[in-house]
Amino acid sequence: MSTVSRQTFDEVMVPNYQPAAIIPVRGEGSRLWDQQGRDYVDFAGGIAVTVLGHAHPKLIAALTAQAGKLWHVSNVMTNEPALRLAQKLTAATFAERVFFCNSGAEANEAAFKLARRWGNLQAEGKNEIISFHNAFHGRTLFTVTVGGTPKYSQGFEPLPGNVTHLPFNDLAALERAISAKTCAVVMEPVQGEGGVMPATPEFARGVRELCNRHNALLIYDEVQSGNGRSGDLYAYMGYGVTPDILTTAKGLGGGFPIGAMLTTAKYAETLAFGTHGSTYGGNPLACAVAEAALDEVSRPELLANAKARGTQLRDGLDAIGRRYGIFAPSRGRGLLVGAPVSDAWKGKAKDIVNAALKQGLWCLVAGPDVLRFAPAINITEADIAEGLKRLDAACAALTAPSKAANA
Ligand SMILES: Cc1ncc(COP(=O)(O)O)c(C=O)c1O
Repeated sequence: MSTVSRQTFDEVMVPNYQPAAIIPVRGEGSRLWDQQGRDYVDFAGGIAVTVLGHAHPKLIAALTAQAGKLWHVSNVMTNEPALRLAQKLTAATFAERVFFCNSGAEANEAAFKLARRWGNLQAEGKNEIISFHNAFHGRTLFTVTVGGTPKYSQGFEPLPGNVTHLPFNDLAALERAISAKTCAVVMEPVQGEGGVMPATPEFARGVRELCNRHNALLIYDEVQSGNGRSGDLYAYMGYGVTPDILTTAKGLGGGFPIGAMLTTAKYAETLAFGTHGSTYGGNPLACAVAEAALDEVSRPELLANAKARGTQLRDGLDAIGRRYGIFAPSRGRGLLVGAPVSDAWKGKAKDIVNAALKQGLWCLVAGPDVLRFAPAINITEADIAEGLKRLDAACAALTAPSKAANA
């Protein structure tokens, strides 16, 4: 018998989370087991993090090999895993320089600070950051301020200033707002927390053009959409639009905490010696695991699997949606998939997630009205089918009483 349970959480933890009733203790591939030994199909991926599933042999090998060599040196010295990872990230993307940190919020914090400093060096007052409604960029004070959900910053005032929020996918609104005073426009190519809402290709191209016209940096927050999840290594590649700064975390370490800000040599100069930093950024353990994860997620077969399994998942969700009247048509890219609930189920996405958990499926919400799915990109066809079967059972259980009532 374990000495800790879900109740322990309420006794010893700050109440900023409300975790599920079960406690997972072991994972393998796209399956998890709880304290009672019950198995779950994992369509959540630790919120789009375990991009290669649980206990991937190559990640275990990289972590254990590095664990016996060197854990930490700080940034007063550099280290081999960090340099190798930076070499691979710059070889694989538009970027020429990398800043390592420990989370998505920290990667965005670095990006926003770079943009502000760059803008202030360009011209007096060039420090407006434009972002979009429903955007999510993390939970530091700067990132909740730039994010597009006011409730995450309410009560934490005073907030950093000169941040403008506009409707997403509305190019005309951006064209009206952007000016010589704008230092950066930040967007998620696929808004994750905000409801799994992909940018339209026209919007993505138009934002790039407007940034060029007004000499503003284009920041892509790929914390959720990156690392193979969209079916491309980074979603910008699928859009054919190149940002000036890209932030990545979550899947970068496949479950080991790491974040990175990627940029060009020219813009990297802005963060000159002493302007920014992180004790743990570039930690050898994190970078060794991330190097192994990057090698794996870059494989064309795996990226193709993300697309094929994404199509399988969406077809299955749409069929369940039609059968039970619970979901409207799904949306997303690759294995970042959202299923908006139908009008009758507005505000009840969490109820569906809880019902799915009872059937042995772990999935997520993205706000009150959207179910979100972010499984590992190496998930098998059989596991997608099994997860869909369990979701179908959950929807059958949820709709059964109302059918009986109507009979
Ligand atoms: C697009 C995006 N940016 C930033 C973050 C923040 O990342 P972290 O929780 O690692 O700070 C998230 C987390 O959900 C995210 O989805």
